[in-house]
Amino acid sequence: MDMDQTRILIVGGSSGMGLALARRCLEEGAGVTIAGRGEAKLNAAREELGHPAALETAVVDISREDEVAALFARIGGLDHIVSTAAAIEGAYRLLPEIELEAAQRVVESK
Ligand SMILES: NC(=O)c1ccc[n+]([C@@H]2O[C@H](COP(=O)([O-])OP(=O)(O)OC[C@H]3O[C@@H](n4cnc5c(N)ncnc54)[C@H](OP(=O)(O)O)[C@@H]3O)[C@@H](O)[C@H]2O)c1
Repeated sequence: MDMDQTRILIVGGSSGMGLALARRCLEEGAGVTIAGRGEAKLNAAREELGHPAALETAVVDISREDEVAALFARIGGLDHIVSTAAAIEGAYRLLPEIELEAAQRVVESK
């Protein structure tokens, strides 16, 4: 697939499935912005992914509306947005072991 000239925002692109998707999109020639809360994690992903001319990073917490608005105000036009972000800490456990707050955080972040 030729993704030349395509601009993609991947929220959650600093690890897991978002990182894998970012790698694939960069290989196909897209311009990619990966976003997440942790700057160090984003920088590590940047090192790992390469393609410095086509890759940007953005620190954002998508559970904060003001941060989301600021991101879109500065990022400019996009062709695609993908979000794999979710606060899954403590949520992948046996049902009786899941704290209600952990379950609520997953739903709210998604
Ligand atoms: N991996 C699996 O086997 C699997 C299976 C079924 C479903 N899923 C679902 O697929 C999604 C992604 O899974 P994954 O394994 O790729 O997860 P992951 O490796 O934990 O990656 C989550 C990404 O989202 C970012 N993130 C989390 N909360 C955020 C927030 N509030 N604002 C902005 N960025 C945020 C994280 O960076 P920071 O922490 O730095 O913000 C990270 O880049 C999740 O919704 C998960 O429930 C995964």
